[in-house]
Amino acid sequence: MSFEAFDNIRVIKVKDKREGGEKAFEIVKEAHESGAVVFGLATGSTPETLYREIRKSDLDFSDKTAINLDEYVGLSPKHPQSYHVFMDEHLFSVKPFKVSFIPNGMEDEEIEIARYNQVIREHPIDLQILGIGTNAHIGFNEPGTSFDTHTHKVKLTQETVDANKRYFESETDVPGYAYSMGIQSILSAKKILLMAYGENKAEAIEQTLRGPVTEDVPSSILQTHPDVVIIIDEAAASRV
Ligand code: F6R
Repeated sequence: MSFEAFDNIRVIKVKDKREGGEKAFEIVKEAHESGAVVFGLATGSTPETLYREIRKSDLDFSDKTAINLDEYVGLSPKHPQSYHVFMDEHLFSVKPFKVSFIPNGMEDEEIEIARYNQVIREHPIDLQILGIGTNAHIGFNEPGTSFDTHTHKVKLTQETVDANKRYFESETDVPGYAYSMGIQSILSAKKILLMAYGENKAEAIEQTLRGPVTEDVPSSILQTHPDVVIIIDEAAASRV
């Protein structure tokens, strides 16, 4: 494991996703011990090892709040590929939070966006967990998304549909839209922990750390946040 500082971003290089999960867990534990109440959570393959560490631990989240980044539009909370089911399976069934919020993919756009923005306003996020897309999206904020966005409805890019079709029976089953926290919602978190594993994330990580801050690379905005930790494995670190 090694540490490097890119301006305000602390980069922790780990051997693999397993070690990344252990390191990420330490950061979650530190936040928990120093009084963090609201945890912003992500889905996908990246946080799996972190959630495994949390499940194995004796950390208690029963007085904490969880706010997830996103959900597919059109999937009910009971759909096996919904992020509701993902979170139950990977975390909440073993580590229940006092309250957990996830966008409702079946709800009308205007109502859901207003509700979720209010949730984020009323529960300021202490620690936001992020993965990153191969196209450098954070949440489902795809390249070109304004840095000013709060919760919004997103049309998923073909690259994201391609990356996520592994979870569905066929590509046509992948929903075309999602509700996602916006870039401003993410930036409002006190601390941000982004993890990335694998060669296919290397370019996005390079652009995040070394590239210009531009809406074409949503994750590049993290360069402007005062407290960001990025955990990457050797493959994801191969270009930095
Ligand atoms: C998931 C999310 C996405 C994923 C990203 C990486 O809630 O917001 O930004 O973090 O698409 O996905 P994985 O981890 O499956 O490579």
